[in-house]
Amino acid sequence: MEKILVLDFGGQYDQLIARRVREQGVFAEIRPYNKISLKEIKEAGYRGIVFTGGPNSVYDEASPHFDAGVLDAGIPVLGICYGHQLVAYLAHGEIKSAGSVSEYGKTEVSVKPCALFEGVPEKSVCWMSHTDYVSGVPEGFSVIAATASCPCAAMADERRRLYGVQFHPEVTHTEYGARMLHNFLFGVCGCSGDWKMDDFIEKTVERYQAELAGKRVLCALSGGVDSSVAAVLMHRAVGDNLTCVFVDHGLLRKNEGDDVERVFKTGFNMKLIRVDAEERFLSRLAGVTEPEKKRKIIGEQFIRVFEEESRVIGHADYLVQGTIYPDVVESGKGDAATIKSHHNVGGLPSVMDFEGIVEPLRDLFKDEVREVGLKLGIPEALVMRQPFPGPGLAVRIIGEITKDKADTLREADAIFREELEAAGVRPSQYFAVLTDTQSVGVMGDARTYGHTVALRAVTTDDFMTADWTRIPYDVLEAASRRITNEVRTINRVVYDVTSKPPATVEWE
Ligand code: XMP
Repeated sequence: MEKILVLDFGGQYDQLIARRVREQGVFAEIRPYNKISLKEIKEAGYRGIVFTGGPNSVYDEASPHFDAGVLDAGIPVLGICYGHQLVAYLAHGEIKSAGSVSEYGKTEVSVKPCALFEGVPEKSVCWMSHTDYVSGVPEGFSVIAATASCPCAAMADERRRLYGVQFHPEVTHTEYGARMLHNFLFGVCGCSGDWKMDDFIEKTVERYQAELAGKRVLCALSGGVDSSVAAVLMHRAVGDNLTCVFVDHGLLRKNEGDDVERVFKTGFNMKLIRVDAEERFLSRLAGVTEPEKKRKIIGEQFIRVFEEESRVIGHADYLVQGTIYPDVVESGKGDAATIKSHHNVGGLPSVMDFEGIVEPLRDLFKDEVREVGLKLGIPEALVMRQPFPGPGLAVRIIGEITKDKADTLREADAIFREELEAAGVRPSQYFAVLTDTQSVGVMGDARTYGHTVALRAVTTDDFMTADWTRIPYDVLEAASRRITNEVRTINRVVYDVTSKPPATVEWE
């Protein structure tokens, strides 16, 4: 399979670059600059390398560099932003600070005819973001683009197939960015675009049929997109040698447990064990109000229940996990401050004894996982569903968790989701939160003292930052009216108008 290396120098767009490359049918792999050597690059057979942007200045002592031999490895290189300056630096060009004339945002760029700009008009709009710029083009290179304040907006050494662009072709604001990436991949690197999801399914199934023949395989299924797709894919490969364990902690959304069971057991004929552990989780959570403590208890109980069930099933050789590419990339980056200890079934292997872990989706982005899911015949409602946190409604019930509260929240949440879906409003994530506030209301002629529910809906690409969704008032009104009418103990509904940051998506 053809592949492109996205060499990450700390830019914010590394994953976006890889996705843009894959959208063109070419497999892209992200590696931090300090986690791969020139020797490994040469041996891996990459068709081309993209140097990403980064926040540094090439002359800073602490700035990320790379072996200059990469420019003579016979592999085409496209440097973007900092990557462009680094190509210039490694090839002995000159870089300067633009000082007060640094450029940000949409900028008109003029390009010269060359392989990278094939089919790109002489003048178009690009997305610039830089302080430094290449002031002296290295020997062998020529300037192929300029803007009003950046004399070298792009450069090329066409003989060595080395390119650099100061702007960002991967963002949609660069009008011909996709065309430029296409030119680099197909015109310069000679790729043919052989990365297709059908091939991925076929190859993955063949691979695991061979590797796991006769082995017993276990999968912790949460009903979320990633573990569902991983389970169905592995079921194709190993059939009844796969057993899925679905731990129902009693903090799922309305009807969710039954839906998961129906889809996998009836729809796919898979061996699925649903463990009803509501009582166990709720009793452990009784009286606990501290958010991190709730998360820890749930994570821990998941492992215990899973272990106990696995013992009943008997020894399994392999464990399937729904790890996807952003998880792999993020974990390779070192840790940032822990805002919330996110819980996934990813905690399992450390405490259990398996011959190996199988992660069939570890090379895929979320949208690719969804495409695979649809091709495998998993219902669209499940594949396209919004994210749902591992600890479930526990992080949406503020204060102590009880069965009554969970039931109340389940009803309110289902109504909110129904109303949004009926109105065709599809935020990235939307749900209800049961606050621990009670307030006075009036119903008929009587005073009420009921719970306050908060509605939350956010719009985001990556969930790292998020904007609150501007839901039409009439949709909010319909949800509020139905919730207060249909859910007995709720007499007040509020809408959360906070973005992330400063808030997070979930309330806990
Ligand atoms: P926050 O609240 O951190 O959430 O802004 C960002 C995204 O992550 C989801 N989330 C979780 N997902 N296990 C998960 O699998 C968790 O423990 C967890 N906590 C939050 C959240 O729903 C949102 O999509």
